[in-house]
Amino acid sequence: MDSLSLSGLRISDNHEDLPERSLLVLYGSETGTAQDAAERIGREALRYHFRTRVVAMDEYSIHTLVDETLVVFVCATTGNGVEPRNMTALWRALLRSDLPEDLFDHMYFAVFGLGDSGYDRFCWAGKKLHRRLLALGGKEIVERADADDQHYMGIDGTLDPWINQLFSALGELYPLPPGLHVLPPAAVCPPRASFLPTSANLDAELPHLTPSGTTPFRVERIDRITRADWFQDVRHVELSCSDDILYEPGDVAVLYPSNAPEDVEAFLKRMKWRSISDKMYQIQSIDSDRPLPSSIPRITTLRKLFSDHLDISAVPRRSFFEFLFKFAKDEHEKEKLEEFCSPEGQEDLYDYCNRPRRTILEVILEFRSVDIPLDYVVDVFPLIRPRQFSIASSIKANPKKIQLCIAVVRYRSKLKAPRKGLCTSWLTRLNAGDTISVGIEKGTMRLPGDSSVPVILVGPGTGVAPMRAFIQDRIHRGARANLLYFGCRSLEADCHYKDDWDAHIEKGELTCRIAASRDQVRITASKVYVQDLIREDSKTIWEWIVHKGAHFYISGSASKMPTAVRLAVEFVLRKEGGWSEDEAGMYVKNMETAGRWAEECWT
Ligand SMILES: Cc1cc2nc3c(=O)[nH]c(=O)nc-3n(C[C@H](O)[C@H](O)[C@H](O)COP(=O)(O)OP(=O)(O)OC[C@H]3O[C@@H](n4cnc5c(N)ncnc54)[C@H](O)[C@@H]3O)c2cc1C
Ligand SMILES: Cc1cc2nc3c(=O)[nH]c(=O)nc-3n(C[C@H](O)[C@H](O)[C@H](O)COP(=O)(O)O)c2cc1C
Repeated sequence: MDSLSLSGLRISDNHEDLPERSLLVLYGSETGTAQDAAERIGREALRYHFRTRVVAMDEYSIHTLVDETLVVFVCATTGNGVEPRNMTALWRALLRSDLPEDLFDHMYFAVFGLGDSGYDRFCWAGKKLHRRLLALGGKEIVERADADDQHYMGIDGTLDPWINQLFSALGELYPLPPGLHVLPPAAVCPPRASFLPTSANLDAELPHLTPSGTTPFRVERIDRITRADWFQDVRHVELSCSDDILYEPGDVAVLYPSNAPEDVEAFLKRMKWRSISDKMYQIQSIDSDRPLPSSIPRITTLRKLFSDHLDISAVPRRSFFEFLFKFAKDEHEKEKLEEFCSPEGQEDLYDYCNRPRRTILEVILEFRSVDIPLDYVVDVFPLIRPRQFSIASSIKANPKKIQLCIAVVRYRSKLKAPRKGLCTSWLTRLNAGDTISVGIEKGTMRLPGDSSVPVILVGPGTGVAPMRAFIQDRIHRGARANLLYFGCRSLEADCHYKDDWDAHIEKGELTCRIAASRDQVRITASKVYVQDLIREDSKTIWEWIVHKGAHFYISGSASKMPTAVRLAVEFVLRKEGGWSEDEAGMYVKNMETAGRWAEECWT
């Protein structure tokens, strides 16, 4: 019995006889989570016999939106309240002031917003989009969801109940014609791709395989900058380019990591694909309503596909288990997987997968009866996400070069093998002389054009990366009013770029305050962080911000640090200016609006 018949019914993609049941799912996604949610909604809609298109917002022709009658918008928020880049064009078009108020009065819509409540502007993009669609006459079919990464089940914690609400509302609006029934969850929708063996030559395809918008860079060095016996491995990375490159301080480098070769080998062996792993395949898109992601190469080998494009090291999402359930053959495994996909099984799934940070490869090695047809791999496995790193150098001080400051992610969970970050582990495998593809994007922080304006830079840990770029750029422009707050645990072990700071201080180019939390604890029995130094320096901070018009920047961990720093500045304003809590809070908000306060923080 093949896996399709085992899994029960197969969903047909022929909906020509039900023209009114046409659903468009548009997603705005920066790192793939919203895309995954959109695809899940799309698969669910197929069970309800909707003709379903799932399209990235920037791959959809905006002027046809007025013709749509049923649209689900799925959108994440990024960069401190900003919409994902693939949503920007659509969002700008919707903001046009000449749009009539009844533009969408024939459109039913729903918004599923994704975000992280650790950020001040939680689900901002989804909220703004929702408000705008209502203002343009759209009719909401189900209440907007604001899904939170911090939910213990992640986004799925909100998506599961929301999908139920959505399809129950749709059931009322679009009742199924007599004789047609909703298909059971085990039904398998058709794949988006077909894999055809080909005799094409991979070398001829190589130029098309580099990610679009990237430039080749040579790896010059990847040096460890934390003490050899220190628990955290932080690297100074230098990349060079033979062409002239342009970037601004505050810009971000985008790296495209690969899975570890030994993991790819173990995966191919488990899937029984070793004998075909180096054969060339043509990957054809077979469903124009659910196009293949543009980053999937159209001709490649399975080894390259699972090395460079499809992720086997991420912690799998719920949608992955839904596919495993459909393709499992062993009854016990099927039962377990069915439980993981049920509302009652969510605690168990969390304990099995999210809590210990089990990877896709580890899961697939455990559920050995799962047999995934080749044509489905693009549906089942997520894309490898590119990773962003703040550039730690100024092009003026380092022509044709990019420097980065990268903390290698490695930690333990209850599983025996240590957990390793995909991109940072890949970086540690690179050697001087290797060539990698690098993209450059605008970050959220920009220096003031006028060099005489002072800057206060708060960048603990690797958050110091963009601050180093700022300092190099400003010193090159002759600016001396640079005040850096750096935080680390120990001056001896993890004080990144201490020699740089000492040299700048010596020349009167920089004022630097370092909070070395573990060193301090030995002296005063309490830890000192950057926010404590800001409070201590209240007179200077007040003088620089209020009297000299300083710009203020924060970068690093998005956990508690940015809020703690903001509160410290508000404390200073209250203490030195005698202002109320509201006045201090409003002053910082106004700084933000005026472009004098910016944050670049990551989880
Ligand atoms: C705009 C921007 C700029 C950035 N700049 C920098 C920079 O300058 N330097 C830098 O080092 N990083 C920077 N980052 C973060 C960087 O992009 C990566 O997220 C980070 O390096 C991890 O990538 P990875 O692929 O190695 O880890 P992944 O495979 O993506 O794993 C990371 C995940 O592992 C989990 N995790 C990590 N540590 C633990 C732990 N101790 N316990 C439990 N779970 C854990 C978390 O869920 C985390 O999200 C930046 C991010 C953004 C968005
Ligand atoms: C650099 C960065 C900035 C973010 N900024 C916000 C934010 O301002 N507000 C928010 O609610 N979520 C924010 N998030 C969280 C994302 O919206 C959330 O992780 C979401 O699931 C990502 O979806 P995506 O993978 O489709 O981009 C941010 C995430 C990152 C990595």
